[in-house]
Amino acid sequence: MRVAVIGAGYVGLVQAVGLASLGHYVAVGERNPERVGALLAGKAPVAEPGLEELLVAAHDRLAISDDNHAAVRDAEVVFIAVPTPEGPDGSADLSIVDAVVDEVTPSLRPASVLALKSTVPIGTIDRLSNRLIARGRHDVHVVSNPEFLAEGSAVADFANPDRIVIGARSEEAAQVLIDLYSGLKAPMVVTDPVSAEMIKYASNAYLATRVTFGNAIANVCEAVGADVSDVLLGMGHDSRIGHHFMKPGPGFGGSCFPKDTKALVRIAEAAGYRFSLLEGVIAVNEAQHQRVVEKVRDAVGGTLTGCTVGLLGLAYKAGTADVRGSPALELARLLSSSGATVRAFDPEVRSDVDGIEVVDSIVEAARNADALLIATEWEQFAALDVEAVGAVMRGDAIVDSRNVLEPKAVRAAGLRYTGIGR
Ligand code: NAD
Ligand code: UGA
Repeated sequence: MRVAVIGAGYVGLVQAVGLASLGHYVAVGERNPERVGALLAGKAPVAEPGLEELLVAAHDRLAISDDNHAAVRDAEVVFIAVPTPEGPDGSADLSIVDAVVDEVTPSLRPASVLALKSTVPIGTIDRLSNRLIARGRHDVHVVSNPEFLAEGSAVADFANPDRIVIGARSEEAAQVLIDLYSGLKAPMVVTDPVSAEMIKYASNAYLATRVTFGNAIANVCEAVGADVSDVLLGMGHDSRIGHHFMKPGPGFGGSCFPKDTKALVRIAEAAGYRFSLLEGVIAVNEAQHQRVVEKVRDAVGGTLTGCTVGLLGLAYKAGTADVRGSPALELARLLSSSGATVRAFDPEVRSDVDGIEVVDSIVEAARNADALLIATEWEQFAALDVEAVGAVMRGDAIVDSRNVLEPKAVRAAGLRYTGIGR
């Protein structure tokens, strides 16, 4: 099939390259000239395992340009994968989606399918459909096809999706996407657009709630003297609960959970339902960042003013270079505003970000630090040479907000250990 993808970021590029590797012909429209240049040179502008190899391998079936009109002109299916950032009141800001749809409307091929990959609030598909009709395009089907990939495993998630969700008002339009994805083995959920849009928000809200539940249990463990690792292990053996996605940490982050949870609260509110549970999740998550900072403050003797903190990790999770919505950045901001100097190291983030000094190694981050704070669960931090960092630190406090270190080993090296819920 002939396909277009507008927006070559994490979602759009993986979708484009993935569909090309299934044998489809894909035209990509991307506004950022640096990204276009990189793609034309066979370089993936976002770091995802396996993405660049697929980009090069599928080269003959990919056309890259900064011209959205040209990209959509021959396409039977056009995917929109542009950002939907958080607006000032927490709702999703749809201005980029609306602008792209308005821009390409005149160039869409008759009877084509316009599929939204971007995460959009409930009712957006129907609203866009009416917008097209108002401009004389009764012949285009607007459908929802939400994306569920996680960064760091995006290519694998495309190839082996847990499910494919299609929200369409016509069977004909749904069938086009079913055919497009026929090369993938996955359960397909075909529903109306409103339900499809809701599946995306409900999934992210559930996952964010699960992580937050793990953090809250860790905090109770701390208060009562239980070990959260054993508690989660014991809970997880219950097949209804499982061991996944409840790992305690500094609070969830990333480019989606924070904005999507807030957007769902707004969506529910606008529809007359107060989603207190999710409001609680957001509040507990924000408090978790502050809780980690308090641990550092306690560990250095009660005041952060004049302290130096070595920060290990800037990415919002291991396996990605993405710092959007990173809890590590929030921790750095909170520490700095309390008077601490922060010096960070991250294996994938090699230049200063948000005014935070980034150094070249773990040891450089630890040098003369009063405390070392692990904010991202990179493997090399789990394998920390505690003797080596202890030798260069001014203080002796290790705060492990990802519970990746063995407390006994840290203590054996003469350092003080603080984790989360243990
Ligand atoms: P991104 O910022 O990585 O990529 C978006 C791309 O769109 C950028 O390359 C940008 O330059 C391009 N763009 C912006 N305006 C454009 C325009 N007018 N014409 C052409 N290109 C334009 O964003 P992302 O992480 O891929 O997220 C995109 C959407 O997918 C969001 O709604 C997000 O919530 C959703 N989503 C993201 C993920 C994820 O893991 N990142 C997963 C599922 C869903
Ligand atoms: C998440 C979802 O997992 C994807 O299904 C979804 O498509 C995507 O959001 C999206 O809509 O953008 P992602 O943000 O890449 O993917 O990362 P996750 O692995 O879900 O982690 C999100 C945050 O939760 C990270 O800060 C991570 O450190 C934290 N987390 C996750 C924990 O603290 N503990 C866990 O057990 C799991």
